[in-house]
Amino acid sequence: MQIHIYKEESQIGKAAALLVAAEVIRNPNCVLGLATGSTPLSAYNSLVELNKQGIIDFTSVRTFNLDEYVGIGRSHEQSYYKFMFDNLFYKINIKPENVKIPNPEESCALYDEAIDAAGGIDLQILGIGNNGHIAFNEPCGIFSEGTHIVNLTESTIEANKRFFNSIEEVPKKAITMGVGSIMKAKEIILIAIGKSKAEAVRSMINGKINPMCPASVLQRHPNVTVLLDTQAAALL
Ligand code: PGA
Repeated sequence: MQIHIYKEESQIGKAAALLVAAEVIRNPNCVLGLATGSTPLSAYNSLVELNKQGIIDFTSVRTFNLDEYVGIGRSHEQSYYKFMFDNLFYKINIKPENVKIPNPEESCALYDEAIDAAGGIDLQILGIGNNGHIAFNEPCGIFSEGTHIVNLTESTIEANKRFFNSIEEVPKKAITMGVGSIMKAKEIILIAIGKSKAEAVRSMINGKINPMCPASVLQRHPNVTVLLDTQAAALL
C-alpha cells in the first residue's frame, strides 16, 4: 500500500483526481469504479474542473458504482443514482449510457457480468466506513464475493442518518458490489477523511486481515493508494 497523508481535504481531492486523470489520459476507454458519500466529493469537484479545462475527456470512459440503497428509488433525494448524476455525471462529458449504478430491482449476477464484459475495473475509488466497511460490505464472518443485497449495520445507519430527516428514514438494506468484485479492480484508491475514520484506517493498515474489518482485505491487493488527512491517520 502506498500511504499519503495530507493536511487539507482539498489536497486529497486533487491527488485522487490526478490519479484518475492519469488513468483516463493513458486509457481513454478505461473503466472506473466509483463511490458515493462525503469522501469522494472533493475528488469529483477536481475531476469536473479538469474536464472543463479540457484536460480529461470522459467520452469513452465507462463507470460502475459500488452500491445503492434498497427501497428508496432512483429519484429519491438521497439515492446514490441521484448523488452521482448531481455531483459528477451531469457536470462532465460522460455518456449516460456508459454509467452503471447497481439497481436493487435487477439481478446482482448481471451487474457482475456487466463489469466482466466491460473488461473489469481499471481504477476503483473507495471510501471506508467508521466500522471498516468498503462499499456496503459490513463487518461479518466472511469476505463476500460478488454483488449482493446486505442488511446495513446499526453503525452505518447511524453514520448515514445525517443525510436523512430522521434515523427511521435511513434505508436498512442496500445492494453492493462484493469484496471479491472490488479486489478484482486493477488499481484502488482509498480515501479517508476525519477522525471518525481513524480506528478503521488503523485496522485496515495495521490490523490482521479479518472480515470484521472488510477494508483489511486490501492488504492483499497489489496496487492500493491510500489518501488520508491527518485526523484519519491519527492512529497509524
Ligand atoms: P462517507 O462514507 O464518505 O459518507 O464518510 C464512506 C463509506 O461509508 O464508505
